[in-house]
Amino acid sequence: MILSGCKNLIDNKSGTKDISQSETEDVHRLDWFKEAKFGMFIHWGPYSQLAGEYKGQRVPVGKNAEWIMKELKIPAQEYRDLAHSFNPVMFNADSIVSLAKRAGMKYIVITAKHHDGFAMYHSEASEYNISDWTPFKRDPLKELSISCKEAGIKFCVYYSHREDWDHPGGYGNDWDYDNDRGPDFYDHQKFDNYLEEKAKPQLRELLTAYGPVGLVWFDRGMYTPEQGLEFVKLVHDLQPSTLINGRVGHYDQEFIGDYQSMSDNGMPAGGIEEYWETPMTLNTTWGFSKYDTLWKSPATVIQRLVEIVSRGGNFLLNIGPKGSGEIPSATVDILNKAGSWIERNGEAIYGTESSPFGELPWGYCTVKENKLYLFIRDWPTDGVLNITGLKNKITMVYPLNERDVKLSVKVNEKNVSIELPDAPPDYPLSVIVLETEGPLEVDPQPVRPGENGKYELTCLNAITHGNAVTRFNRKGGFHISKWKGPEDFAEWIVSADKPGKFRLDISYSAPREWEGMKFEIFIGDKRFERTVSCTGELFEFQEFPVGYAELTSSGNFTVKIRPKDVSDSWLMYLRSLTLIPVENIKSSGWGSD
Ligand code: GLC
Repeated sequence: MILSGCKNLIDNKSGTKDISQSETEDVHRLDWFKEAKFGMFIHWGPYSQLAGEYKGQRVPVGKNAEWIMKELKIPAQEYRDLAHSFNPVMFNADSIVSLAKRAGMKYIVITAKHHDGFAMYHSEASEYNISDWTPFKRDPLKELSISCKEAGIKFCVYYSHREDWDHPGGYGNDWDYDNDRGPDFYDHQKFDNYLEEKAKPQLRELLTAYGPVGLVWFDRGMYTPEQGLEFVKLVHDLQPSTLINGRVGHYDQEFIGDYQSMSDNGMPAGGIEEYWETPMTLNTTWGFSKYDTLWKSPATVIQRLVEIVSRGGNFLLNIGPKGSGEIPSATVDILNKAGSWIERNGEAIYGTESSPFGELPWGYCTVKENKLYLFIRDWPTDGVLNITGLKNKITMVYPLNERDVKLSVKVNEKNVSIELPDAPPDYPLSVIVLETEGPLEVDPQPVRPGENGKYELTCLNAITHGNAVTRFNRKGGFHISKWKGPEDFAEWIVSADKPGKFRLDISYSAPREWEGMKFEIFIGDKRFERTVSCTGELFEFQEFPVGYAELTSSGNFTVKIRPKDVSDSWLMYLRSLTLIPVENIKSSGWGSD
């Protein structure tokens, strides 16, 4: 156990919980977002005209073409000269909005300023903007905000708040200004100048001159929680209902903002409880590259959307318009094709909740009121679809798009078998609707032994109670937290095929402030009481042995962990409990403490 390296990262009396709770309490802000599920991300700027190449040098496919300035270390002055010739005459806000609509997207997030520091709207705070700096003169964000409003699409902006390779005080330019420094080394004065004369005024402009802004998408974090909070406050003071994504704060600090941004192209293996969104791009770059033709198929887009929605999140899919303003034809084609499937099956996506069954071997599931939407990916060869754990009476089962075709169902205890039509009615996923009587009731899915007979009780298969929640942090991954007393606990139903002896390990992280708090773990009727050790920094996880346990018969049992006492602090960031089979332990009944 390592006890060194712990820093006073957060003062719990005023820090962690106050930051995230007070700023995220307005849950209604999220209503439209939870309904929307699918959004369009647009990365567009002067980098788009370079299209991944400058002076014969390329940004390799697989790397981000919008990073060309940094990748090729183009001096800020030279990049400014390049930006002078940016003239995207083919830009047409209406056609972008209608593409988004056809694709079934309900919000658009456009880069108002990316890391290159160039504003894609008419900014008073900096003349380095598309209206004042280029022959184009127009304000594409204004045009887009108007088209969005007319079409009933939420207009949203991306703003790179810490990273700015043009401003001498912004983060990230290490070739002109030596500004690629970590939190302990950056020049506070220069950075504050950048925040005060550029980043904050520009955000104020975006939040006052473009009508209601659905959300601000910040990127790549801030140095300190306080700086992140200033941006949260700035946004909410001007537009209280505007959402803020989780990247407003730094990755290795606590989550602030209204919803969590998963890593690029990433998502949880199961549902997490704080609302989240996965950003993904249609090829492998965010900004346009003429070399990148690694397009995802319409089927991939559809499956990814459904997978994300069934796990309880939103999907933000990126397109990179060309320097001319034109949308690459492959992009249009893929979105049109995906959109036609989404239009047919939208009822099963928008406004739904995550699957109550966890992972399903044949596809995905979403829920709305008394309806379960079953998305079949792998059509069963025997034509029978099995679902376990559903407790409700079933009133009707039918294909979403053939409501008159009633499918017959056999119920055997808690196993439901649906007789499917001979062939899948749709591609790549066919949706079957199962209507139930009364509010949905599903047995928790038991955890089964994995490799080597181990039971992995993770935050993703936990059932949480009270204030305990499963969370995500871009640096620290998934964990359970926010527990402050015995009422806030996590439990797992474990299904044992056979009796056996086990060692119980726990993996968690805890900064110095949480050290010494007591927690209890119950396995069946046995109880362990242990004390939290400091593991280092906030997201430095460590594994500790807890004790031994013996299971004397097969069947289901419960494992539960909770804080022993009420406290002001969270107990720990729990990553997992693991039951590892061991031979030769001398004990009887459930193991001893
Ligand atoms: C990464 C990239 C950035 C892009 C973002 C989108 O942070 O660095 O260029 O805007 O992902 O999620």
